[in-house]
Amino acid sequence: MDKLLVHGPCKLNGTVKISRAKNAYLPILAAVLLSDKKIHLKNIPELQDIKTMIKLLQNLGVTVTKNGNITTFDASTLNSHEATYDLVKTMRASIFVLGPLLARLKKAKVSLPGGCAIGTRPIDIHLTNLEKMGCVIHLTGGYVEASVPKMKAAHLLLSFPSVGATENLMMAAVFAEGTTTIDNAALEPEIDDLAHFINAMGGNVKGIGTKKIEVTGVKELKEATYEAIGDRIEAATYLMAALATGSDVRIEEVDPAHLEFVTELLKKMGAKIETGANYIKVEKSVLKGCHVDTAPFPGFPTDAQAQLIALCTQVKGSSVISENIFENRFMHVPELIRLGAAITLKGKSAFIEGEAKLSSAPIMCTDLRASAALIIAALCATGTTEIQRVYHLDRGYENLVDKLKTLGANVERIK
Ligand code: UD1
Repeated sequence: MDKLLVHGPCKLNGTVKISRAKNAYLPILAAVLLSDKKIHLKNIPELQDIKTMIKLLQNLGVTVTKNGNITTFDASTLNSHEATYDLVKTMRASIFVLGPLLARLKKAKVSLPGGCAIGTRPIDIHLTNLEKMGCVIHLTGGYVEASVPKMKAAHLLLSFPSVGATENLMMAAVFAEGTTTIDNAALEPEIDDLAHFINAMGGNVKGIGTKKIEVTGVKELKEATYEAIGDRIEAATYLMAALATGSDVRIEEVDPAHLEFVTELLKKMGAKIETGANYIKVEKSVLKGCHVDTAPFPGFPTDAQAQLIALCTQVKGSSVISENIFENRFMHVPELIRLGAAITLKGKSAFIEGEAKLSSAPIMCTDLRASAALIIAALCATGTTEIQRVYHLDRGYENLVDKLKTLGANVERIK
């Protein structure tokens, strides 16, 4: 298994280009199943989760060809409605194929994703609302088996603004006769992106960017070309790495509006941040602690909580960060403590003392974003930190080592 060696402390300097968002492309790839016309997607990031989703599409019969930075998907060859356990168990986002398979084939058999490192993550909101659209669902042998004689437009009210459920239901409604309303929909930018993609394919989604999304069924879709938004969580990670290491970094190809809560919080902490149409520039700053709760968009993203904790170990004063989205999302904390951080966990809050003198230790990645926090801390720590289980990072950070090296970090990956 590969390891990362971070020879710290490191200063970063220069420009980093952000990849297209994993969490935008995962549902967009699933939505490819809706169409029997060719779909051309630009700059799909080379990430393990994306490879898993593409493999899942190929297993379902989709033909995939790559030409330069454009990958073409032809789902006219779709010949299966079954997403098997061997792929689904490695990536929860496989559940995204449920809605489009039901919309296109009127049947789907998708393995239940099960729990994951950060929490139990049920899919009840996906399933109860699909039932409201006329789907008949049975859970048998670890699989969701669903069929629908005719998908019905319906008024859906989500009990929580689940990102995945909003996306799955939006895709399920693309051909349903009439208008489906998804009330209390999630507001994350990746949802807007999926809606824009569905519209680019000839679908009819309105209320984009609001809590009430309306999907009016269409008879057929058309050939389309699309490129997803920049990855706001990757950008937040580089932003916090720059601030933690007292560096000047320009982060390009991301929409700063997608990170407004994060940049406003960091500015209140003392960060010198400038934003433009497609970039965020950060300068070496003296920061103080913060009190923040993770929340659905436009609040502070749970996917940047671990990285913020790592940053808060380096600021002046103490911080309190509470996790409200997932029940078990502090696995980075014991690893950060191994590097010398002073953090106490109480219930869903982490209490962090700043100005910790971090020094190297062998540490281990536990999930994707926890791993990003460990990299930030290792960049601040004195000595060589060995980070194990880097496959977690491969799920969500494209060219991480190269990007960090371009910024001047002394980082290497060893087999
Ligand atoms: C998506 C993101 C993930 C991010 C999360 C919250 C993708 C591929 N993943 O995950 O990176 O951390 O949004 O921003 O886009 N819930 C239920 N029942 C359901 C669905 C969700 O109880 O049917 C709960 C979950 O257990 C969790 C909360 O709702 O506690 C939020 O989950 P959700 O918004 O659905 O996140 P995901 O779509 O899984």
